[in-house]
Amino acid sequence: MRKKIIAGNWKMNKSLEEGMGLVSEVSNMLKDEYKGSAKVVIIPPFIHINSVSKLIAENPVMAVGAQNCSNHKSGAYTGEISADMLKSCGTKYIIIGHSERRQYFGEHNAWLAQKTDAVLNAGLNPIYCCGETLEERESNAHFTVLEKQISEGLFHLNATQFSEVVIAYEPVWAIGTGKTASTAQAQEIHAFIRGLITKKYDAALADNITIQYGGSVKAENAAELFSAPDIDGALVGGAALESRSFVAIVKAMA
Ligand code: PGA
Repeated sequence: MRKKIIAGNWKMNKSLEEGMGLVSEVSNMLKDEYKGSAKVVIIPPFIHINSVSKLIAENPVMAVGAQNCSNHKSGAYTGEISADMLKSCGTKYIIIGHSERRQYFGEHNAWLAQKTDAVLNAGLNPIYCCGETLEERESNAHFTVLEKQISEGLFHLNATQFSEVVIAYEPVWAIGTGKTASTAQAQEIHAFIRGLITKKYDAALADNITIQYGGSVKAENAAELFSAPDIDGALVGGAALESRSFVAIVKAMA
């Protein structure tokens, strides 16, 4: 059975004090109110990871993730942070190829393939992001774009390695815009991605891969999105910055 994962990506938000407050609230609410089986992953800025990890250590539902990592293992790369370092601070998941990293920091598929390897070599799970821009969707190029992102970033992996990957489909036009893909649009893409994995590996592996949806997920649309057969959770941005709205999304996953 594939894992359901709700992840909250804080991006570049929250002081340490604000972040700790938010995590305590989320953790307490989940203990009291959540009986489901989804994994809840908090993805704060790097410098808060160690503190978040300690705070949630006793909560079996929760885990901590990172928003990025270096493609290198160690060495003279000023300002970079390796997957091994993140692991030593309690990180379990690392986002690779978020559209903001692709757009503002020039991260491209070949580089993301190396980062994916770095995450897997550290024994962690990559959350590999893919998604088309509005222009690409309107010109009907979205399937081609997604196939390229996934094949160039991930299809060098063997089946055992691939089974550790989580995929997040995040249409760029839906991120932070308040505009969500309809459940039918998201389901169509998730099924397409599962089809690509089936073609490259096999149906059993494809069936086991968690594919999250991301892009303006909120309490109001989460249950409907999660009702689709190929949507296995969410990568949440804005709505993860407030405990009530984030927990409401988690609770929408039965
Ligand atoms: P959003 O961000 O929920 O604010 O649209 C999602 C993301 O970037 O992962």
